[in-house]
Amino acid sequence: MLQGALAGAQSTLRSHCGNDYVRGNNTNETRQGNVKGMAGEIILETQGLTKEFKGFVAVKDVNLRVRRHSIHALIGPNGAGKTTCFNLLTHFLAPTAGKVFYNGRDITGSDPATIARSGMVRSFQISAVFPHLTVLENVRIALQRKLGTSFHFWRPEHSLDRLNGRARELLEDVGIAEYADLAAVELPYGRKRALEIATTLALEPEMMLLDEPMAGLGQEDIGRISQLIRRVSKGRTLLMVEHNMNVVAELSDTITVLQRGEILAEGPYEQVSKNPQVIEAYVGTGHA
Ligand SMILES: Nc1ncnc2c1ncn2[C@@H]1O[C@H](COP(=O)(O)OP(=O)(O)OP(=O)(O)O)[C@@H](O)[C@H]1O
Ligand SMILES: [Mg+2]
Repeated sequence: MLQGALAGAQSTLRSHCGNDYVRGNNTNETRQGNVKGMAGEIILETQGLTKEFKGFVAVKDVNLRVRRHSIHALIGPNGAGKTTCFNLLTHFLAPTAGKVFYNGRDITGSDPATIARSGMVRSFQISAVFPHLTVLENVRIALQRKLGTSFHFWRPEHSLDRLNGRARELLEDVGIAEYADLAAVELPYGRKRALEIATTLALEPEMMLLDEPMAGLGQEDIGRISQLIRRVSKGRTLLMVEHNMNVVAELSDTITVLQRGEILAEGPYEQVSKNPQVIEAYVGTGHA
């Protein structure tokens, strides 16, 4: 199936050749050009990242480098170690070996909350949507969480009205303002994903980690959430795990392919998708 998706995405790319995709490349170059003068083109780097579960090595010596302001996809067959990698980056799991650097700082031993405060936020981490609160209340809670211990109701700048105003803005940004007063549980599935992104944005992340943002979505929602991801990536860095190859082809500047815990290939889509080892990795695991 995935190979079909790969082939499908390739033909999409071919048919776009000379317009959309080339424009995408130009955007990449512009992005690179823009960040060159900034302090540190690499926002996230891992060195020898390794995780062993009772003798089973789920992530093995992974050296990942994510460019600032890029959309970077982590792909690979089921069980390749993608989610484990995310868990290591945000310290939901402690690595067996290796280091994680964020903005040049060693964050290997930092706890998830500290990592989130420093700007790297994994979407599900804060997207635990409260089903019986309204959509607006869910975003407001995320905003309050961002204010953390400094939150004081008596301070005018932190008043509920102000939070409501900001929460509404975020709902508008993700295109679900009309659902503000609906209980989160009543939201259509695709709109819940948009709410998750709004609650993530409430934390003002510099870098967002999204684990399979398209999982379970129908075609129409995939298009909408793709556009949303593209939009919220402006001025941010995005690392996403995604199985939908059309989405990966469309959004990613760089793709890292994991297989059995190790990096198999890395590069832009048109390069990685032609790599025989990558195609084999998917065919060999029944994704074809
Ligand atoms: N807590 C754990 N204990 C033991 N083994 C684990 C644990 N977590 C993950 N694994 C194993 O590590 C390997 C990598 O799992 P991981 O969830 O990272 O894969 P993935 O690439 O995210 O796969 P998928 O595409 O199915 O989400 C799998 O073989 C999995 O069974
Ligand atoms: Mg996973």
